[in-house]
Amino acid sequence: MKLLTTAFAFSLLLCTMQHGIARTISQEQNAKHLNKPMLPALLAFGDSIFDSGNNNQLQTMLRSDFLPYGEDFITHRPTGRFCNGRIPTDFIVSKLGIKELLPAYLSTNLSNEDLITGVSFASGGTGFDPITSQLAAAIPMTEQLEMFKKYREKVKGILGKRGATELLAQSAYLIVGGSNDLASPYFSSPLRSSRYDSSSYADFLLHSASSFIQELIQLGARKIGIVGIPPIGCVPSQRTLQGGFARGCASIQNEVAQIYNSRLTKKVEEIKKRHQNTTLVHLDIYAFLFDMIEHPTKYGFEVSYIGCCGTGLLEAALLCNPMTLTVCTNVSRYIFWDSFHPTEKAYSVLVNYIYENYFHLLVS
Ligand SMILES: *[C@@H]1O[C@H](CO)[C@@H](O)[C@H](O)[C@H]1NC(C)=O
Ligand SMILES: *[C@@H]1O[C@H](CO)[C@@H](O)[C@H](O)[C@H]1NC(C)=O
Ligand SMILES: *[C@@H]1O[C@H](CO)[C@@H](O)[C@H](O)[C@H]1NC(C)=O
Repeated sequence: MKLLTTAFAFSLLLCTMQHGIARTISQEQNAKHLNKPMLPALLAFGDSIFDSGNNNQLQTMLRSDFLPYGEDFITHRPTGRFCNGRIPTDFIVSKLGIKELLPAYLSTNLSNEDLITGVSFASGGTGFDPITSQLAAAIPMTEQLEMFKKYREKVKGILGKRGATELLAQSAYLIVGGSNDLASPYFSSPLRSSRYDSSSYADFLLHSASSFIQELIQLGARKIGIVGIPPIGCVPSQRTLQGGFARGCASIQNEVAQIYNSRLTKKVEEIKKRHQNTTLVHLDIYAFLFDMIEHPTKYGFEVSYIGCCGTGLLEAALLCNPMTLTVCTNVSRYIFWDSFHPTEKAYSVLVNYIYENYFHLLVS
């Protein structure tokens, strides 16, 4: 079946590259918090939004361990985070008083202290549909669970069996996924549309997300937040690829995201009924992010239709690199760093929203 020419698929793939890496950033930068943290650890799963460097260790084009990624990071060096600076998991551990940065599980030199205060298993480019991670050569969600099992063994080695069980039950687990499934070349191809319409594809993703959550519960997680799908049709690369001459938002992608999000809320209630001991929350960011993009000035931004890196129309991952001729002169004006990922400043606004609206549920 001639669905996509190789070149076309390749360019789409580049545009959907998303996730990142991080070479060990650890103790020195993790400020010593004098007050007791609100939670002992954070464990993060999913895609580039939470990837602090796992993809650095993979053979994938979806990397960001080169400048200009990281140019506004604390060290002003690239880490594999798909951003000019910190990503949501960094802001979250800092707000919780745990540490300043959440390291990647695949970092080469994590200390015991790094491990027991939490890590990220996330991998740029992954999704709830196994085809998505396959096309991106990213770490599939199922493999992230296997990594978590190995992590559990390490924690048992450090804290003993009882200590580990207690730590893992008290820690927060955050999951983010779905964006890459909708931005993937597979989603836009007849291969997908001949098999699934919007509603059934949303169900397929939801089924996968729900199995993931239930496996985490089986493995001892008791405080879980799952981030809904953002208005992915409105990120600069999707406007360029699917938004026509006017670069509007890609409507099918937003439609599937909205169907998925509304069903996720119901699914979360269903799972909670079966697991009374578990706190499970849908962190719904769709409407908030959509409003940020539509009304950037309300939030202290000026530009939301293009990214800061390069032309801002398509550049992400390998295309946003040291050879890129231009990076915008004032990144504070921009919601998007590259054509797919928010800037550090936009992430900080988004995390404040999530934190204020949902975290009391996870911390209590
Ligand atoms: C990890 O290794 C890197 C490179 O060898 C080094 O710069 C960094 O300080 C190390 N981090 C820790 C926590 O030891
Ligand atoms: C809740 O967890 C406790 C301790 O793990 C267990 O003894 C109890 O049976 C659980 N209750 C429910 C409703 O799952
Ligand atoms: C950069 O943009 C921000 C937000 O619009 C503005 O507050 C700041 O003054 C700008 N900085 C420079 C150097 O222009």
